[in-house]
Amino acid sequence: MKNNNKNNNKIKITIYSPNYYTYGAMVIGGALQKSNTKYNIKLIKNIDDNNLKLLLKSDFVLLSLYSTSQIIDENLKNIVNFIKRKSKNTKIFVGGPVSAYPEIILGELPVDGVIIGEGELITPNIIEGSKEGLAYRDINNNEIIINTPKLKKLETLHADLLIPNNIANQSIRGANVYIETHRGCIGNCTFCQVPKFFGKEIRSKPLDEVLNEVKQFKKRGVKRIAISGGTGSLYNFKKEVNKSMFIELLEEVSNIIGAKNLSVPDMRVDYVDEDTLNAIKKYTIGWVFFGLESGSDNILKSMKKGVSVKKNLNSIELAKQCSVKVGGSFIVGAPNEKEIDHLLTKDFIVDAELDDIFVSMAEPIPKTELCNLVLDTDIKNNPSFKPHNGQYKKLNLTEGEARCFDLMLHSENWKSNPNMITKQLYSILLNESKKDGKNIRNITELIFKYDKYLI
Ligand SMILES: C[S@@+](CC[C@H](N)C(=O)[O-])C[C@H]1O[C@@H](n2cnc3c(N)ncnc32)[C@H](O)[C@@H]1O
Ligand code: SF4
Repeated sequence: MKNNNKNNNKIKITIYSPNYYTYGAMVIGGALQKSNTKYNIKLIKNIDDNNLKLLLKSDFVLLSLYSTSQIIDENLKNIVNFIKRKSKNTKIFVGGPVSAYPEIILGELPVDGVIIGEGELITPNIIEGSKEGLAYRDINNNEIIINTPKLKKLETLHADLLIPNNIANQSIRGANVYIETHRGCIGNCTFCQVPKFFGKEIRSKPLDEVLNEVKQFKKRGVKRIAISGGTGSLYNFKKEVNKSMFIELLEEVSNIIGAKNLSVPDMRVDYVDEDTLNAIKKYTIGWVFFGLESGSDNILKSMKKGVSVKKNLNSIELAKQCSVKVGGSFIVGAPNEKEIDHLLTKDFIVDAELDDIFVSMAEPIPKTELCNLVLDTDIKNNPSFKPHNGQYKKLNLTEGEARCFDLMLHSENWKSNPNMITKQLYSILLNESKKDGKNIRNITELIFKYDKYLI
């Protein structure tokens, strides 16, 4: 490999995570830094003239991607094509949760390879020329080679993070950074990427290492921290929830950063109780976001959510009794969702009186069960494509978009703190539904294009 930087012999590596410095990008940066002091590593999240020059001067560009829509994003494609045209010696690798479907990435982006799975152990070796854990195109016959990593995943998480100096300037849903306390989820939800990518076993980071990271972030000016990881209360889960460790985690982190600056949003309704909710109230901003998904038991069952509508309502009630604010996430437009399911979800929202509500259209993330269901469904019957002929007919929406729009309007009316539907709010929600609808159609077309790798 020819080194672009002749002056100081350092290998230049630029990690580009579009829009945000993701935790994953910081983990990879830290792992590389630790593995070799001869690496000159930069982390970027946007493209301006300086960063474009930096990319062209790099020996390696690592694209850290977490969502399917990033693979088909025209801007990203243009950047990759530009680097390939202008700097023949720069190698570009893609990593992150999208690496679960390397054939799609290699089909859509002219990159040199895809780093498969959790990258912290294998990326340093790949930079040194190893092909273990790399998917790439064989230049002789254009075939895709997938070298599944032989290295075991980390059982106990450790991370030496590369934290950018301007981390405190970013806001991801109100937090400067989402930190990782554990990986994996015991849930089986058919639409979800978390157990598919990280697995169903929970692997946690020792508390002192979490606290050390929080201190490092604080030193860099970070004010607000959120704990990510699918389901917060699964921290140190081993056969059962380790309530005391979860509570200790919240207490200790909030001692450093302050309760009003800490949130632990993602929570499953069946993995909270009075003690955990009281701790959330005491040591965080006092909010939970449950994945409620639907007001129809049939849909919850088909999503393998593992809980019923009644359980959802009971946990919302319990959280309110503990003075915890409750947000709920809903999914509309799954191929098997019927009009009656949608009506049941609207009734549920009235009964639940949630403090905040997120509605998204079902995204067929490649390799999930939902993806298979979408591939098995005739496009004509797929709500993301089927024209809507009901009350919003004039708006030219698909059935999925109409349900998304309808549920968002309904949510504004029935939140604990309702909003009046002004013209402006109406058009914001309409545009959001259309944008979501377009994104889902693009992803659906993508999975049909690569269906031979998915079924
Ligand atoms: C709020 S968290 C889930 C919290 C918690 N782990 C649970 O399951 O209750 C993530 C939410 O993002 C939404 N989501 C995840 N994957 C999705 C997909 N493929 N399509 C649409 N929405 C999705 C779901 O509403 C999901 O509940
Ligand atoms: S939706 Fe929540 S519970 Fe279900 S698999 Fe994903 S993270 Fe786990």
